[in-house]
Amino acid sequence: MIRRKKIAELIESSDFGSDVTMMGWVRTKRDSKGGFSFLEINDGSTIKNMQVLAEDKLANYTEEILKLTTGCSVIVKGILVESPGKGQKVEVQAREVKVVGWADPETYPLQKKRHSFEYLRTIAHLRPRTNTFGAVARIRNSMSYAIHTFFQDRGFIYLHSPIITGSNCEGAGDMFKVTTLDLQGVAKRQGITDFREDFFGKQANLTVSGQLEAEVYALALGNVYTFGPTFRAEDSNTYRHLAEFWMVEPEMAFCDLKENIELSEEFIKSILSYILKNCRDDMAFLNRFVDKDLISTIDGIINTSFEHITYTEAIEILSKVIERFEFPPAWGKDIQSEHERYLCEVVFKKPVVVTDYPKEIKPFYMKVNKDGKTLKAMDILLPRIGEIIGGSQREDDYETLLNRIKEANLDPADYWWYLDLRKYGTVVHSGFGLGFERLIQFVTGLANIRDVIPFPRTPKNLEF
Ligand code: 4AD
Ligand code: MG
Repeated sequence: MIRRKKIAELIESSDFGSDVTMMGWVRTKRDSKGGFSFLEINDGSTIKNMQVLAEDKLANYTEEILKLTTGCSVIVKGILVESPGKGQKVEVQAREVKVVGWADPETYPLQKKRHSFEYLRTIAHLRPRTNTFGAVARIRNSMSYAIHTFFQDRGFIYLHSPIITGSNCEGAGDMFKVTTLDLQGVAKRQGITDFREDFFGKQANLTVSGQLEAEVYALALGNVYTFGPTFRAEDSNTYRHLAEFWMVEPEMAFCDLKENIELSEEFIKSILSYILKNCRDDMAFLNRFVDKDLISTIDGIINTSFEHITYTEAIEILSKVIERFEFPPAWGKDIQSEHERYLCEVVFKKPVVVTDYPKEIKPFYMKVNKDGKTLKAMDILLPRIGEIIGGSQREDDYETLLNRIKEANLDPADYWWYLDLRKYGTVVHSGFGLGFERLIQFVTGLANIRDVIPFPRTPKNLEF
C-alpha cells in the first residue's frame, strides 16, 4: 500500500517520479480541450493546493472526473512530477482519481471564490474549508503550541483550573449559572432560589478566570499557568468580546509587578516571533488578502520596547483631546477601548503598558499601593485590539484583602480558602491573563473576534 502523504510535505518534495497517494477536497477544476483536466486539491495541511493532472485516458474521466466540482472529496494516486506551470514547483500526474464524496454545485455554499465574513459565520461548519479560515485554524494551533512551549521552557507547571466554580474572580455580576434545577418550577424560599436543592448544594457558575485557583498552586509550586476556556455573560456585541473565550493565565510566587510586566512583554514577543517563523505561508496569505501591513506591524512590535505609563498619566494625555472621544476620559473612570487605541495608535504608535489604576475600577485581589488609592495593576494595550492583557501583583496582606472583599460586596465566607493563602505562608505574587482570541486577531489581522474562534458564542448566537 502506498502511504498517504500530506500536501504540505509533497509541495516541498523533489522526489520526482515517486508514487504518491493524497486525499483531500477539490478547490477548483479546469478542463482543457486537449483531453485533460487540472484539479486543485487541498487537504488542510497547508494553504497551498496541489495541482493534479488528470488525462482522459483515466477510466472514469468522462463519467466522474469531468463532473467534479468544488467541495468534492477525492483520493488521488499518481506520480509526483516537476511542474511546468508557474506558481508551483511540483504537481501530480494522476493514475487514478477516486471520488469519495460529491458536493452538489447547485446547493454547496462555497461555490463563489469570495464570501463575506458575515455570511461565512452562518455556515461555521463549512467555513474552515476556505483559505482564510484554514489559515486561522493553523495559526491558532501553532500559537497554542508556542504558548505551552514558552512556559514549559521556563519551568512553569500547566494547571487545569476548574470550569465550574463557586467563586467569582472578577467580582462582577456577569457569570453563567450552572444548574440542574428545574427552572420552570425552581424551588424558592422567601423569593430567593434555594440552591441547597441544586446539584452542588450551592450556586455554581462557569468560571470567568482560572486565576484564583492558579494562585493556590503558585503558592505551592512556584510558577504555574492555566490555558483554557473562560466565560462571560456580559451582553457586549463588539468586535473583541466573546461569551466563551480562551485565556492564558500565568501566576508566579515571589514575583512583583515589575517582573510580571517583564514576563508578559517577553511572552507576547515570543509568540509573535514563533508565528512569523513557523506559519510563513499562512501569514503571507493574510498579509496579501487581509492586511498589507500585517507582517511589518508584527515585526515592528517584536523589535520595539513597550511604552510604560501610569493610569494617571494616561488620563492626563487623554484629557487634552477630550473632544475626540465618545466617552470623556476622567480620573476614576474606566479607560475605554477608544482611549486604549488612541494611546497605542496615535500617541505612542506601539504597545502600551498602563499601571497603577484606581482601586475603585479594578477587582478586589489586586495589591493596594502605599497611597491607598491606586493598585499594583497593569493592562497591556495593543494597536487595533486595545486591552490584550490584564494583570497585577496580588494583595498578599490578610487584613487589606479582607477589607477589599467586603468593599466589593462579596461574602468573605465564600473566599475563606483564598484568604487562608494570606494567613499561611503568604508571599509577594503576581500574574496576568491574556485573551487568546484577541492575540489571534492581532496576529491574523482579522477585524472580528468571531472569526478567530472555531465556533463563536456571542449574545443570541449559538447555532450548534
Ligand atoms: O482583564 P481580565 O478580565 O483579567 C482577568 O480575568 C484576570 N483574572 C487575569 C489574571 O490576572 N490572571 O481578562 C484578561 C484578558 C483581557 O485583557 C482580554 O484580553 C481578555 O482576557 N478578555 C476577553 N476576550 C474575549 N472576550 C471577552 N469577553 C473578554 N474579556 C476579557
Ligand atoms: Mg481587564
